Formats: sequence, structure tokens, C-alpha cells
Amino acid sequence: MEALIKQAATDLADAKTVVALTGAGISTESGIPPFRGKGGLWERMDPMEVAHIDAFMRDPAKVWNILVKEMKGIVDKALPNDAHKGLVKLEKMGKLSTVITQNVDGLHQLAGNTDVIEFHGNFAWQRCMECNRYYETRKVDISRIPPRCECNGILRPNAVFFGEIIPPDALGRSQQAARDCDLMLVIGTSAEVQPAALMPVIAKKSGAKVIEINMERTHLTDDVSEYLIVGKAGQVLTGIIAQMEKAR
Ligand code: OAD
Repeated sequence: MEALIKQAATDLADAKTVVALTGAGISTESGIPPFRGKGGLWERMDPMEVAHIDAFMRDPAKVWNILVKEMKGIVDKALPNDAHKGLVKLEKMGKLSTVITQNVDGLHQLAGNTDVIEFHGNFAWQRCMECNRYYETRKVDISRIPPRCECNGILRPNAVFFGEIIPPDALGRSQQAARDCDLMLVIGTSAEVQPAALMPVIAKKSGAKVIEINMERTHLTDDVSEYLIVGKAGQVLTGIIAQMEKAR
């Protein structure tokens, strides 16, 4: 791991435009469970039953009770960890331009990154399915499930459910960022979900180096990534930044 951390520090120092693509794995050290793998949400619940738009339309109370209430309890309290803070340092060093995140937890913005593309929307807001009024999730009263708008419409997370399209602006800006970067850091994503997992492919096809930081191999590892640094995102990013600072 040490040799690869040094290599990544050199590659980052040489790069002009760096973009990060992040997934649930960057927030596990903040106490937010991932979706897949050990301890993942989808081990305990079926995403087609609780995270598909058809399931929500069929039975919003069920989806609120099983998934949304639990997420609200965790995300309301979560704080950025060393990995989020590392990406802020990279931005301050003038290296990182954009974070494309599949996460809906808002932790990149809370840490201080200034250009964050929320590929799957966010959990900070709930919106009324009738009149489109927005409510801050932290302030939503969940004594009645599903919570309702003043107009009596049902509130839904401002996040993307399975079966819904990616917000067009987020998709377009992400594709552009992937084409424009010369180094993409892919951190804590299983790369199982499309079209997010295409962003490193676009970056590579446009000539960028793709560096993965993950606890395990993914199907980007063999054909898309230059190399994979196996480890916890917080520890790896802290190590890379320490190397970069030493070399300055
Ligand atoms: P996953 O849960 O699929 O993958 C998380 C990845 O992070 C796994 O490969 C883990 O090995 C890795 N990981 C876990 N802890 C880590 C750590 N401390 N440091 C580094 N890596 C770690 O999460 P995503 O790829 O983000 O979509 O999932 C993609 C989408 O699937 C989500 O945005 C969500 C979900 O269904 C929607 O809700 C639409």
C-alpha cells in the first residue's frame, strides 16, 4: 500500500485537473452503512421493494418506515470524516476541481468542497409530490408517516429512486467533468450502478488516469483503473496528502 500511496501522490502532483467520483464507501467512516457487501443495506432489505419508484408509489408509508426513516436518523447526525476532509485539502491545493458523488448525505459540501455534483440527488430535502414544495429533511416531522406537505401531498426524498432518471444537469456536468480531467480518483464505489459507473470509463477513454481507492476489487479494477489502492478511504487519502505535502 505504501508504494501505491507514493505513486498516487506523484500522479496527483503531475495532474492538472483532478475529478473525484465517490460512493457509499467514502461515508462508511462517518457511520453511514454502504449498500452492498458486508453490513450493506441491501443485505437487510430488497432495493426493489424499498428503493424503486414503483415501490414508493405503491406504498409510500412502507418505504418511509423501512428505509427513509432509518436514513434520516443516520444522515441527520453524520459528520465528514478524514476522506471527505482529504478531498477538501486537494481542492485547496488547487488540484481537485469537482466531486461527482453518488451519495445523498451532503458530507462533501459540509466538509467544504465547493463544486459537488449530486448524481443521485440529495437527502437534505424532501419534496411534495403534489405541489413540489421543498422541506428541509432535518425539520420534517416524522410523527406521522408518510409525512405530508401543508397541501396534504406526500413528501418524498429529493433523491433518485431506482427506475428514475439521473437529473439531466448532474449527468451532463459529470460527463463533461469526466471528459475534461486528466486524473480521476474513484473512491468507495462498487461501480455496480449505471450510469455513474460509466464516468471512469469516459475519463479513461478521454485519456485520463483512473486511480481507485476501495476496500476490494471492482469490475473497473482490471480494465479501467491504472491501479487500485486497497484500504479505508480516510487512511489512504490522509497518506497521499501527507506524501504530497512532504514533496512540496
Ligand atoms: P456500494 O455500497 O455499492 O459500494 C461501496 C463500496 O465501497 C464497496 O466496493 C466497498 O468495498 C467500498 N468501501 C466500504 N467501506 C470503505 C472504506 N472505508 N473505504 C473505501 N472503500 C470502502 O455503494 P455505491 O457504489 O455508492 O443508488 O452504490 C451505488 C448506488 O447504489 C448508490 O448511489 C445507491 C445504491 O443503490 C441509489 O440509491 C439510486
